[in-house]
Amino acid sequence: MQNPENPAAESKTSFSQSLLAWFDTYGRKNLPWKQNPTLYRIWVSEIMLQQTQVATVIPYYQRFIHRFPNLPSLANASVDEVLGLWTGLGYYARARNLHRAAQLAWRNYGNELPHTLEAFIELPGIGRSTAGAILALALGQRHPILDGNVKRVLVRQQAINIWPGHPQIKKQLWQQAEDLLPVTRIADYTQAIMDLGAIICTRHRPSCLYCPVKETCQAYIQGSPNNYPQPRPRKSLPLRTTVMLMLLNSQKEVLLERRPPTGIWGGLWSFPECPTQTEPTSWCQETFNCTIENIQMWPLVRHSFTHFTLEIHPIVAQIDQKREQIMESEGRIWYKGVEVMNQLGLPAPILRLLEQLYKE
Ligand code: ADE
Repeated sequence: MQNPENPAAESKTSFSQSLLAWFDTYGRKNLPWKQNPTLYRIWVSEIMLQQTQVATVIPYYQRFIHRFPNLPSLANASVDEVLGLWTGLGYYARARNLHRAAQLAWRNYGNELPHTLEAFIELPGIGRSTAGAILALALGQRHPILDGNVKRVLVRQQAINIWPGHPQIKKQLWQQAEDLLPVTRIADYTQAIMDLGAIICTRHRPSCLYCPVKETCQAYIQGSPNNYPQPRPRKSLPLRTTVMLMLLNSQKEVLLERRPPTGIWGGLWSFPECPTQTEPTSWCQETFNCTIENIQMWPLVRHSFTHFTLEIHPIVAQIDQKREQIMESEGRIWYKGVEVMNQLGLPAPILRLLEQLYKE
């Protein structure tokens, strides 16, 4: 479609047309959520795909959809079961929000999810880009998206040398994302631009020679795609330290406690944490009224969150009593071995510690 009167409009059209032609040959079309792409299935997949790669998501998605095939089944599930199916995928707030959103949508809209961008953004855990992607992919609605992959593509197209999270740049990128949208084939275009960012326009060593939109890419023309996007200007992450007690009873079961609903790992199951300045033996005596027989320090475990680094000092402590000494309750259970792993939401480092504990 030539438009000699308006070169800017022509270049926008050529961007989407080149991208769609590339998608027809190289795009990912066999993804499980693309088979029968209902609003519910696309919604679940897009939440799982936030910060997580397609290959990692696929088996989680399949188990999740098998157990929760539609909105009512998810809305009526327990949060523990939802978190259990999320174990290992990380960023658990996504699972809690998905569950809460299902309950809200089911209450407010019946068996269907809402069909407008505004109503979707109101649901917990859904921002403008995710809402736009869901409605574009599932219903072909014409909304721009701006996730990490798309930001990188657009920043390189214009060679923007300011961190893309800067509010002023963000506004400019949203406008650019909107301007580039084609009139038709919105679902394919949305998948195509995400795929381009994930497969070709990667953060490190992008495959520019195979890129369908390199002719309009200023970073490529300059010969310096690796200089974009600029990293977030950041201070070094603060460090938090915690001592975790893996308390084993005489039946070789380990004590788990449910964490408070908010904060890190909200609602997930973890080990009791002993204040860092306190001696673990006397802390156990005071807290659980139990005597420790044998204590073993394990090597330090580091876990990175977006805003801080957590340093876990794991301690294995054998208590002499049977499980009845410390009663199970609403927020406390004796963990009976790896076979129940999928029934509880467990943070990744806790899962690894449990695997190590039961391997010995
Ligand atoms: N990241 C977020 N959504 C995605 C999708 N639908 N396909 C590939 N990567 C994605």
